[in-house]
Amino acid sequence: MASVPRRRNKLVKHDMDNAPIIQLRGLTKTYHTGEVELKAVCDVSLEIQRGDFVAVMGASGSGKSTLMNVMGCLDQPTSGSYLLDGAAVAGLNRRQLARLRNKKLGFIFQSFNLLARTSALENVELPMFYSKPLIALRATRQRAAQALENVGLGDRRHHHPNQLSGGQQQRIAIARALVNSPELLLADEPTGNLDTRTSIEIMGIFQKLNDAGITILMVTHELDIAAYCKRIIVMRDGQLISDIRNENRRLAQEQRAALDQAEQKAKLA
Ligand SMILES: Nc1ncnc2c1ncn2[C@@H]1O[C@H](COP(=O)(O)OP(=O)(O)O)[C@@H](O)[C@H]1O
Ligand SMILES: [Mg+2]
Repeated sequence: MASVPRRRNKLVKHDMDNAPIIQLRGLTKTYHTGEVELKAVCDVSLEIQRGDFVAVMGASGSGKSTLMNVMGCLDQPTSGSYLLDGAAVAGLNRRQLARLRNKKLGFIFQSFNLLARTSALENVELPMFYSKPLIALRATRQRAAQALENVGLGDRRHHHPNQLSGGQQQRIAIARALVNSPELLLADEPTGNLDTRTSIEIMGIFQKLNDAGITILMVTHELDIAAYCKRIIVMRDGQLISDIRNENRRLAQEQRAALDQAEQKAKLA
């Protein structure tokens, strides 16, 4: 994998203010379906510091995606406050929200969400067409190509998603999420559709990005995957029930080497 660009300029600015990138206070999200009222997220208070790599765990239906969608400004909370990079999200109109999302956040989903009949390169270019000010077409292409290089797919830029493996498709999605240089990457079960080896690869990319200064928040229900993160929070019935530092986190590089070795052994046996 090619090296990940360092984010010098952005970091300098933020070293001066040490405010958390995410600050939730009493955040609640209630869904109404017919007569039924459901608190998908209930009174969650949480701070995430710049440079952290956080896993959000919990059983299906515990509110992980709802919380992520609120933090990603894709959904508004019912009550409570949310400061993103020190700014109150509640006070923003739709246009300001879209702008904030495009500038600060990158999204990665379990199902990749790529355009099927569109090349890898064009998929990655897409978020730049929503940038303000608009980026010149040539620069757009260059940045997309570089982003694909960074995830090791430089030679696949003209392939369509259906010509690529699941792991390669997820790497395109990562390149797309990174192309506007976000400060925060939000990933909802990014390895949910991938086998063990490919999951390790994706976690390797995340660890490298995190080392380069990007804050990552990742939903997973697999302990094996959460083990790569620096901090693990657990939800149950919409509430935060545990929040720990993962002092002995797994390193993707080591895991991959171990897997290679095991496979080599199996072949020889
Ligand atoms: N748009 C929605 N309308 C109504 N209920 C929803 C909606 N989205 C999620 N829920 C409910 O909120 C709860 C939390 O869902 P979700 O955040 O998707 O959990 P998780 O991601 O942990 O599986 C679940 O009970 C789910 O059925
Ligand atoms: Mg979910």
